[in-house]
Amino acid sequence: MTTAWPYPHIVAHRGGGSLAPENTLAAIDVGARHGHKMIEFDVKLAQDGQIFLLHDDTLDRTSDGWGVAGELPWDKLVLLDAGNWYNSAYKGERLPLLLEVAERCQQHGMMANIEIKPTTGTDDETGRVVALAARLLWQGQTEPLLSSFSVEALEAAQRTVPDLPRGLLLDEWDDNWQALTERLGCVSLHINHKELTAERVAALKAAGLRILVYTVNQPARARLLLNWGVDCICTDRIDLIGPDFPNE
Ligand code: G3P
Ligand code: MG
Repeated sequence: MTTAWPYPHIVAHRGGGSLAPENTLAAIDVGARHGHKMIEFDVKLAQDGQIFLLHDDTLDRTSDGWGVAGELPWDKLVLLDAGNWYNSAYKGERLPLLLEVAERCQQHGMMANIEIKPTTGTDDETGRVVALAARLLWQGQTEPLLSSFSVEALEAAQRTVPDLPRGLLLDEWDDNWQALTERLGCVSLHINHKELTAERVAALKAAGLRILVYTVNQPARARLLLNWGVDCICTDRIDLIGPDFPNE
C-alpha cells in the first residue's frame, strides 16, 4: 500500500474549476495557467470501453449531445462539442480521453485525482479498467489518486491494482467511515466540506487518513479547513484559492 502523500494542498476541480468548460483539455490548460499543481476530473467508459472525461451520466448538460454517454461508442462521442455550452470561445473543444489527459497533465507537470464516475451498472468494470489505465499512463510519474463514490468501483480498483492510492468519496457523513476505508485500503477520505467539523477532522486524522474536501470556493472557509488539519482543498475558484494559498 502506498503511504506517501505527495499531493499539494490545493486541487483544481474538474480541471479549471468554474473558469473553463469542465473536464476538458482547455480546462486543464486554464488550471495550469493559474499555476495549479493538481487537478481533479471525472471519468467513465464509452460503450466500447474507452475511458473519457464527463461528470454526468448523460451528455445533455455539458455537450451538444444527449442521452446516456456510456451507451455510445467513442467514435460517436468524439464528434461532440464539449465547450460551446460554456462559452462560444470554447466551441470545438472535445470530450477528452484519459490518455490525452494523462499526456496534458504530464506536459504541465500536474498531478491528478481521477474520480471514477461509472455509468449506472458499470461500477466494477469501470473501476477495473480505469485502475489499469491509470497505472499504465502514469508510469514514472507521481501516481494519480483514484477516488469514487462507488464502493464497488473502488473494490475493483483495489483488486486490480492494489498499490494505487485510493480515496473514498462521501457526500454525507457516514458513521461507518472507518470500517469502509479500512476494507477498501483507502489512504484518504474525500468529503463534502459542509459535513466536516474540527472533531470529525481530528477523528479521521487519528485513524491515519488524509482528507480532501470539495468544493470549497471561499478563502475564509478554506483557511479554516486547513487549520483543522484538512490536507487538500478542491476548488472551483482556482483564481481565489490558488496554489500559493497559505497552508499553515
Ligand atoms: O472529487 C470531488 C468532487 O468532484 C466530487 O463531486 O459531483 O463534483 O464529482 P462531483
Ligand atoms: Mg468529481
